[in-house]
Amino acid sequence: MIPTPDLSHLNSKDFRNIYEPAEDTFLLLDALEQDQDELRALHPSICLELGSGSGCVTTFLGSLLKPSLAYMVTTDINPHAAIATMATGRKNGISIDTVETSLVQGLLPRMRHSIDVLCFNPPYAVTPSSEIAGNGIEVSWAGGIDGREVIDATLPFVKELLSEKGIFYLLLVSDNKPDEVVRLLQEDGFNAHICLQRLAGREKQLIVKVTRRT
Ligand SMILES: C[S@@+](CC[C@H](N)C(=O)[O-])C[C@H]1O[C@@H](n2cnc3c(N)ncnc32)[C@H](O)[C@@H]1O
Repeated sequence: MIPTPDLSHLNSKDFRNIYEPAEDTFLLLDALEQDQDELRALHPSICLELGSGSGCVTTFLGSLLKPSLAYMVTTDINPHAAIATMATGRKNGISIDTVETSLVQGLLPRMRHSIDVLCFNPPYAVTPSSEIAGNGIEVSWAGGIDGREVIDATLPFVKELLSEKGIFYLLLVSDNKPDEVVRLLQEDGFNAHICLQRLAGREKQLIVKVTRRT
């Protein structure tokens, strides 16, 4: 069992500025752990997490892949997240490069078709569209119409980013119409299926796993 990253360097004051790991974060960790043999066998060179928040997910993935020397890189639009992610990596012995940017701005075309493991626990809550603008704590959850606006903005980048052997793990909730997201990814030529799901209170959370068709 891979231990949940030590986050003891972050306190309630930090979690006023960055997303505190919750059931959604842990579902993503469980999906990675479920696939640990496949992920190790992949020998990933570059792992990218979008919206890393505290850095819990990428730190966990880095620990899972140890002693592999995969390059771990994250983005987040919230400047506090970059600092927290690096600190979480350091605390747990995982080296992480962080980029303060929206989605993958600045990473393409340099990282075109080079991401072996891509993860995103996006802002998925249904909110007014106006709430997705900004870079504070509120963009941790604000997903606009159907909670899909940031998710839909991300989908076109998946085919740009994933390497031939790449795997993408995307967290969704039922409000996001996950079957439609799966269909959109399949129409884009990917294998996409729900690999894990769980109820968190009344909310159904699930992980979509995406790979290139061979
Ligand atoms: C639900 S939180 C997940 C945080 C962390 N990955 C976790 O699982 O605990 C969503 C994260 O996405 C970030 N985010 C929101 N919009 C973004 C955007 N356009 N580009 C990059 N990151 C974004 C938020 O700042 C937040 O850190």
